Order: sequence, then C-alpha cells, then structure tokens
Amino acid sequence: MTALLRSIGSLPAAERPQAGKAANEAREKLETALKVRGANLSAAQEHDVEEIDVTLPGYRPNIGGLHPITRTLRDIARAFAPLGFRMVDTPEVEWDEYNFEKLNIPPDHPARDMWDTFFLKSESRPGEMLLRTHTSPAQIRLMEQIQPPIRILAMGRCYRYEDVDASHESIFYQIEGLAVDTAITMSDLRGVLEYFTRTLFGRDREIRIRGSFFPFTEPSCEAEMSCHVCGGTGCRVCGGTGWIEILGAGMVHPDVLRGVGYDPDKYSGFAFGMGAERVAMLRYGIDDIRNFYRNDLRFLRQFN
Ligand code: DAH
Repeated sequence: MTALLRSIGSLPAAERPQAGKAANEAREKLETALKVRGANLSAAQEHDVEEIDVTLPGYRPNIGGLHPITRTLRDIARAFAPLGFRMVDTPEVEWDEYNFEKLNIPPDHPARDMWDTFFLKSESRPGEMLLRTHTSPAQIRLMEQIQPPIRILAMGRCYRYEDVDASHESIFYQIEGLAVDTAITMSDLRGVLEYFTRTLFGRDREIRIRGSFFPFTEPSCEAEMSCHVCGGTGCRVCGGTGWIEILGAGMVHPDVLRGVGYDPDKYSGFAFGMGAERVAMLRYGIDDIRNFYRNDLRFLRQFN
C-alpha cells in the first residue's frame, strides 16, 4: 500500500486525483477487514475458554507423605515423651573412642566383631574416624556433658558393613534410650520396655526378655517380640525361631559410668538400643527390610 501511495506523485497531474482516491479507498477497506478479523479471532478465543468440559475428571495433585521410618521414629518419640525422655542428636561420623572405647570396647577386643565398621580417612587421627555403627555413643556424649538424673532418647542413622538380606541393611536407624539416677534397677528397665511395647504395638503382641551380652551393660539382655509374619511358628523373617529381636538393653556397666566421671556406687542406669526398621516391620507387617529404601512409590504410598 505504501509503495502504491508513493508512486501516485509520479503520475501525470490529470490522473493523480482519481488514483489517490482509489488508493485511499483500498487502504480503508483493508484496515476495516483487518479490524473485523481481529475482533472475530479474540471472540473465538473467549468462546473456547467457556467450552472446558467440567465433567472430565481432574488431575490428582501429587502430595508427598512421611516415610514409614520417619513415622515410626516420631511415634516412638511420642511413646517415650510422657516418661520424661528428652531427644538428643549426636554425630553420625564418630571417633573410635565414642563408638567403642568409652563403651568398654577396647581396640582389638573380640566384641568388635559385633559391629562391622566403615572407617573413614582422617589425617589428624588416622584409623580413628568412622561411621557410627550404633547410637550408643550418644550415651557417652550426653553423660560427659550433664549430671544425673538423665533420661534421654537419641535417634539416627547408623552404618554397618553388612551382607544385605531380608532383615539387614547397611544403612539403618536406631533409637537409643538411657536413664541414669540414684536408684535405677533392672525392673525399671523391664517396666519401661513393657510400657513401650504396649503403647506402640498393643496388648496382643508378646515380648520376652533374654540374657545377652554387650560390653557396655552388665547384666545385658535382649527383648524379642513374637513374629508378625508366622505368628511364632517360624519363617524366613524370624529365621525359623518365631521371635524377632527388637532391642538390646541392660544396666549401664560400672566402667562406663566411671569413664564419664560418675560414681558407680552412687549412680546406676539402664540403656537400650533398637532398630527402627525392625520396629516398623513389626508394626506394618513388612517381610523385607529392603522395601524401605527401594523408593518404590507403590510401596511408600501405602503409608499415607
Ligand atoms: N548398641 C547395640 C547395638 O547396636 C544395642 C544396644 C544394646 C544398645 C544394649 C544399648 C544397650 O543401649 O544397653 O547392637
């Protein structure tokens, strides 16, 4: 259009008025057509919006949920809270001193075989830095800092160089309990453990306490619960025994108390340590520990 309008100036003077008029009319027509088409297009768009089919099913928003182990840890903390157990958090990367020595496990002691350990490279203290194999170092760290009476609960990730199978993972969670005071006895331990299992599992699951050995407790014991899969007749999950060990416990060894500067003639205490995955397996009836960390949403969604 622009080129056409410009070229009018070069026409003979007699033709110019007519040509100019025709060109202006053509331009007006084009502009009007453009406006009409534009208006139609935006009207059509608005029309489309109203055409959404509200009867179609919507998209379900993907809402995350708590991991079954997180749920279990929280429920355990809640079960112990009324008894006055306070939560503490201690390092996952530990010194040999806290993971073993102060727990009455000297270097080269055969009891170290109970914990297949991942050691870390440390330039300042070679051979002494490791991934904690249990939450028991929390006992030492706390007792070194505060005086009795003590009631603490420590939870967190632990690491062992394990052969992974249906009931063992190399990364897992433990819950550690410790109570120290002037007149704590084994029956306090028993009472607390029974209270705890009743609170978390209900009355119909059986628990038994058997003698055991841990270097940091004397006497030491193990608590076992009747197997949730076979009901006690023996299966793959319980290794054929009908019972599943859920925790180790005992009276804090006098040497451990002495080591943190407590007088064992004045103070006594009990301690226990349990595997969070074992507890979760018992609660939810799960037969393979590896399910927890496969990140299969079909498994995880069941807990929401
Ligand atoms: N730390 C032990 C383990 O991982 C479990 C344990 C046993 C913890 C006895 C305790 C205890 O506090 O008293 O095998």
